[in-house]
Amino acid sequence: MHIEWKADYNTGVVIVDTQHQQLVALLNQHFDKESSVDLYEMFQMLGDFNAYAMRHFDTESHLIQEAGLTESSLWLLHSGEHDYYRQRIDEFRLLAQGQPDTTASRLMSFLRYWWLDHIQVNDKKLMQSLLTIKQTQA
Ligand SMILES: [Fe+2]
Repeated sequence: MHIEWKADYNTGVVIVDTQHQQLVALLNQHFDKESSVDLYEMFQMLGDFNAYAMRHFDTESHLIQEAGLTESSLWLLHSGEHDYYRQRIDEFRLLAQGQPDTTASRLMSFLRYWWLDHIQVNDKKLMQSLLTIKQTQA
């Protein structure tokens, strides 16, 4: 279940790539414990992982502001994805209370799929636009 970091995941924006690698490392630590995770650990994991994820979203938002792209459709779509992620995590918190035995593995599958897709597709596209704008401004 581990995610192996590939050079292809890099967006070319160092701070974003560093944070993505850290997020993947955190996820991998949790994948190791997945089968033995209990409800308390799951909430702990959600808290720790998402604190870092929210910081990462803030970093992206800050980069977009700096580039003057806050109103661009690309960013509106992208920040919508971040909103969707927050909603899903809230849903998992609720689910964990009612179905603690099955929620951990569903949560881990969601995190694995969402982050891999977000990094490889959406963040890459966003950072490419950012880099293009920086090049034209230079
Ligand atoms: Fe993003």
